[in-house]
Amino acid sequence: MTKVIAFISRKGGTGKTTNAINLATMLNNLGHKVALIETDTNYTISTLRKMEVYKSGAKENSLFDIIGSNDEQIAEELTQMKAEGKLDYIIVDSAGKTTDEGIKKLCLVSEAVIVPTSLTQNDLLVTYQTIKDLSPARDINGALKIMVLPNRIHSLTKHKTIEEAMSNLDAEILDVAVPQKNLFVNFSTIMAEKEYLDTAKAILKHL
Ligand SMILES: Nc1ncnc2c1ncn2[C@@H]1O[C@H](COP(=O)(O)OP(=O)(O)O)[C@@H](O)[C@H]1O
Ligand SMILES: [Mg+2]
Repeated sequence: MTKVIAFISRKGGTGKTTNAINLATMLNNLGHKVALIETDTNYTISTLRKMEVYKSGAKENSLFDIIGSNDEQIAEELTQMKAEGKLDYIIVDSAGKTTDEGIKKLCLVSEAVIVPTSLTQNDLLVTYQTIKDLSPARDINGALKIMVLPNRIHSLTKHKTIEEAMSNLDAEILDVAVPQKNLFVNFSTIMAEKEYLDTAKAILKHL
């Protein structure tokens, strides 16, 4: 069965795109059949892929697909791709400006939502609101898993501190922390960062 994992939050800059790329690339490197869909009209990921192909000479047809979509079409496209059943995972990088209706439609065809957040007060408030906004979809799609991914976490921060900061969130807090690191800024759609393996495993464990 094809599983859809959607990165969602009500704000830009929380780490949706960075983590969607790292997860898709890691799952692909692990041998899973993956596609990455971006609905952000900047189409950053498609541009990144083009640059990587140009620089490395890799053949585009040997890499996983990166597909541009939008709020209006994505639910239908996902339904169709799931029916075709060719993929193990479809990762969706949504835009921070996605409407309530757009979020709901996306969640009805998803198995999991991942909300990345740092521990700043602003990010935590946005995460609280994002999870609240997911409840209409959760009421209909009871199987939907909602996971919070601690992102940009200082390496000395204990997981207990993260859990305390996120204790009011009605979601699964993933037992990993993506560090605040330059490494994750130089992301790739071809070669996964091996440091991301634990994060990918933690996400798969909850699916
Ligand atoms: N763990 C991290 N460590 C360092 N920089 C990060 C990390 N996660 C995201 N960033 C940086 O933060 C900015 C916003 O991240 P991005 O993934 O584009 O967020 P979003 O897609 O939610 O708008 C980017 O410049 C990105 O490189
Ligand atoms: Mg983005």
